[in-house]
Amino acid sequence: MADIEKEYVLGSSDREVARLAFQHEVWAEVTAGLFRTAGVSYGHTVADLGCGPGFVSLELARLVGPEGHVSALDASDKFVSLLSSRIDSLSLDNIRVSKGDVCSLNLESGSFDFAFSRWLYCFLKEPEVAALEAHRVLKPGGKLIVMDYLNYLSAGIFPGTEVLNSLFTGYMKTVNEHYGSYNIGGILPSMLAEIGFEIESLEPIVRIARPGENVWKWVEFFNELSVPALVENGTWTEEHREQFESEWSSAKETPGTFFFSPPMIGIVATKLH
Ligand SMILES: C[S@@+](CC[C@H](N)C(=O)[O-])C[C@H]1O[C@@H](n2cnc3c(N)ncnc32)[C@H](O)[C@@H]1O
Repeated sequence: MADIEKEYVLGSSDREVARLAFQHEVWAEVTAGLFRTAGVSYGHTVADLGCGPGFVSLELARLVGPEGHVSALDASDKFVSLLSSRIDSLSLDNIRVSKGDVCSLNLESGSFDFAFSRWLYCFLKEPEVAALEAHRVLKPGGKLIVMDYLNYLSAGIFPGTEVLNSLFTGYMKTVNEHYGSYNIGGILPSMLAEIGFEIESLEPIVRIARPGENVWKWVEFFNELSVPALVENGTWTEEHREQFESEWSSAKETPGTFFFSPPMIGIVATKLH
C-alpha cells in the first residue's frame, strides 16, 4: 500500500490538498451534473473510489442523506486521515472512509447503488482491474460514474508558443512515466462495455478561460506544484522553465489570450448483471 501512495504522481503535500480543494470548487458543478444524470439521490449507497481528501465524498453524504451511505476509499494515509477528522468534526454517521487500493477493494460485492471516481483512472497502471472491482461492488443495475481526462494534448494557451505549450507534453510524459495516461477517457467506455457495463451517457467536459478566471487559476495552481517537477525529472532545463515563466507572464497581459482546458469525459455506465 505504501508503494501505491508513493506512485501517485502529485503526492499529498499540504499544497496538494489545497490544490485539490480549489480544483473541487472549480469542477463541483460539473460533477453535480453527472450525479443528476446518473440519478444519485436520497437513500442511495455510493462508493467514492480514490476519494482524495474527500471533497466529493462529503457532498455525496449530503446528497444521499441519513438513510443513504457513502464509503470513501483512498490509498493515501494523509488523505484518509484528513477526511476521517472532517467526518468526526461534523459528527456524520452516513459516511465512512478507509485506506485501500482500488484494484483490490475491501468492500462487499453487490452492495452499492453507485460507484464514483474522479481523476483516478488516469493515474492507474491497471485501470481494467479497478473497473472490474467497481463492477464487483455494484449491485446489478448499479451505476459507475467516472470523470477523467481525454485527448489531453488538445489543451493549450492561445495564442501559444512552443515553450508555453510544451507544458502539456511535459505533464503527459510525467504521468506516462508513472504508468498513467491523461488519454484514459478514450479507452474507458469500450473497456467498461467489455467488462459488462452498458454505457448510458458520455459527456464532453471542456472549458475556455481567460487570465484571472477560475479555470485559468486552476491550471496556474497545477503549474505551481508540477512545473518544478518537470525540472526535477529532467523533462525541462532550468532555462526552459525560466523562459516558460516569462512567456506565461506576457501571455496574461496579451489581450485575447485564453486557455483551452484539457478535455475530460463524464461517463455513466450501468452494471448489467
Ligand atoms: C487527483 S486525486 C483525485 C481525488 C478525488 N477523487 C477528487 O476528485 O478530488 C487522485 C487520487 O487517487 C488516489 N489513488 C491513486 N491510485 C490509487 C489506488 N491504486 N488506490 C486508491 N487510491 C488511489 C490518490 O491517492 C489520490 O487521492
